[in-house]
Amino acid sequence: MTAEARWLADLEQRARDALSPAVVEYLLQGARDSITAGEAVDAWGAIRFRPRVLHDVTHVDPGVTLLGHRSELPFGVAPTTLQRAVHPDGELAMAHATADAGGVLVVSSNAGTSFADIGATGVHWWLQAYLPADRTLAEPMLERAVAAGARAVVLTVDTPVVGTKYAGPDVPVVWETVDPDLLRVNFDAGYDDLPGAEKALDLGPDDLGWLADRTGLPVVVKGVLRAEDAVRSVQAGAAAVWVSNHGGRQLDRSAATASCLPDVVAAIGGRAQVYVDGGIRTGLDVLAALALGADAVFLGRLPLLALVEGRDGVAALHRELLRQTVDALRLAGCRAAADAVHLL
Ligand SMILES: Cc1cc2nc3c(=O)[nH]c(=O)nc-3n(C[C@H](O)[C@H](O)[C@H](O)COP(=O)(O)O)c2cc1C
Repeated sequence: MTAEARWLADLEQRARDALSPAVVEYLLQGARDSITAGEAVDAWGAIRFRPRVLHDVTHVDPGVTLLGHRSELPFGVAPTTLQRAVHPDGELAMAHATADAGGVLVVSSNAGTSFADIGATGVHWWLQAYLPADRTLAEPMLERAVAAGARAVVLTVDTPVVGTKYAGPDVPVVWETVDPDLLRVNFDAGYDDLPGAEKALDLGPDDLGWLADRTGLPVVVKGVLRAEDAVRSVQAGAAAVWVSNHGGRQLDRSAATASCLPDVVAAIGGRAQVYVDGGIRTGLDVLAALALGADAVFLGRLPLLALVEGRDGVAALHRELLRQTVDALRLAGCRAAADAVHLL
């Protein structure tokens, strides 16, 4: 293994050494028995390629176009909570490193950094939102994101309630250990105690139109595993569908995203973009996702673990994963990310 590939492969171990047990548990945990979380990586590893040969791969372009915006990376940063518990610079380090790499950053509505500060880095960013029972309560947060330059809104639809997690023995629950100022700074003080601020149990297709109206932004639906839900999302106006099981943190025993992606692509590919996340750890995983028809992939735990080393860590992650992806594309006879769709 090259030194850079070793650096990437050892991210989890270095995070375990550097962070408190409660934070490590939070980053890595899955729901319930972690069946889904445990299967994600292997599902990508089971994909086999039929590489193309006799194609000039002198120049390989790994970039993709996401909702009309050119990303130099075929992978974006997925939304994750508690980045400032991983590194004091949190979302700002993530934003600077992703801007430098020409990538796309999705910011959790739970972020511990103001949207204005994130937007000021110049990164191309999308807001991720959960909607509350009383939708109108979300409006100030949405307005702040729009004012700070968010270019799309990603509605997470797999979280009517937060999936139950079992902390390991003797590991305190993270919420009891972290400073509350490290999250949800883009909501008004006292928001969580308002009647109607709990997560909506009645999300439906109409919420996509509501979000688009309120923000004027394209809406991405995150957390789809079934083809008919992808079709319903597109019929309700979604610009993209994001195949995700929330990193195995919601319904345990949900199917691996690698196995759900082809049906979603078959159902809506060409009408809306399709993204995927869950268990992507190497450039070969990126190639597998592109080969199954994804327009781009997103990374949850990898950038969080790299964030232990701050902006430089996230920059190193983008560099190494891009290098691995270009290498994989070249070996597969692909001149561009989109060529990978012919590989299976
Ligand atoms: C620590 C952690 C926090 C997360 N927080 C959010 C969140 O605030 N909003 C959201 O939509 N998804 C959240 N996710 C899910 C990620 O966006 C993504 O779907 C998942 O992590 C992808 O799997 P991977 O970690 O194997 O790459 C979180 C995931 C992790 C690991």
